Amino acid sequence: MNHFFSINDLSKDEIYRILDDAQHIQEQRTIRSLNKTAALLFYEPSTRTKLSFEKACINSGVSLLSFTPETSSVTKGESLYDTVKTIEAIGADLVVIRHGQERYYEELSNISIPIINAGDGTGEHPTQSLLDLFTIRQEFNRFEGLNVVICGDILHSRVARSNAQALMRLGAHVKMVSQSEWQDPSLSVDYIHMDEAVEEADVLMLLRVQKERHKQQADVNDYLTKYGLTVDREKRMKKDSIIMHPAPVNRGVEIDSSLIECDRSRIFKQMTNGVAIRQAIINTYTTKGGKSYELTY
Ligand code: CP
Repeated sequence: MNHFFSINDLSKDEIYRILDDAQHIQEQRTIRSLNKTAALLFYEPSTRTKLSFEKACINSGVSLLSFTPETSSVTKGESLYDTVKTIEAIGADLVVIRHGQERYYEELSNISIPIINAGDGTGEHPTQSLLDLFTIRQEFNRFEGLNVVICGDILHSRVARSNAQALMRLGAHVKMVSQSEWQDPSLSVDYIHMDEAVEEADVLMLLRVQKERHKQQADVNDYLTKYGLTVDREKRMKKDSIIMHPAPVNRGVEIDSSLIECDRSRIFKQMTNGVAIRQAIINTYTTKGGKSYELTY
């Protein structure tokens, strides 16, 4: 449990342990200062993941080494491996990496300090998955038997891939909504229409149309009415069902703008939960043996 590359790196027990730790952290039964140093290497843009890791580090007594690819020796051609090896040599205790290359971490397996994957191209986004699981568990207190429908640009979504695998392992029923060219054949799930999804889902998880990853420019003019969450569809959702979206949101594309802060939306709650989850992750991976020894419940 040295690195956290994929949600599948964690057993079910380890997932539950991190969710429990995050719950305790959020309830102010906080961790004492870890007195560590971390570097956040974001080769792709981010607002939520980067800032919530920064806040999680501040809350945990973890000092941050400043790094931006544009002002670093990456511009002189330094490789990812040499950059991480340098950060390790300088004395960081933890590295968080977001990179456009899927499975970039395979070339980093012999780095000895823990590496946390903050998104690898269209591969995985395991820390987002944990904060999504945390949000769902706070709402329903279970995964077993829950109907989760993941909707949108599945093929380009690292969030969909991590969440589908995790939720199925934890006993949820996962279905998807997507136009045929954005379906992912590697995931064995049923695809349904959005009109069915809103009536079945306990959790309706919307995804951003990732225009920057498309080879051909997508026409999203009628996307909302065909595949998105309209005001009319929201009215047909089950009484206690919730809406999630990892954000950033394309307002008026995958969801009607007026629904982003509606009663059943947990979109900003997900962002809040990202801090506690990332504190729990930092604690887990920087303390001996991957156990949260520093937590004082
Ligand atoms: N959800 C998410 O990963 O957002 P950012 O790209 O802003 O980090």
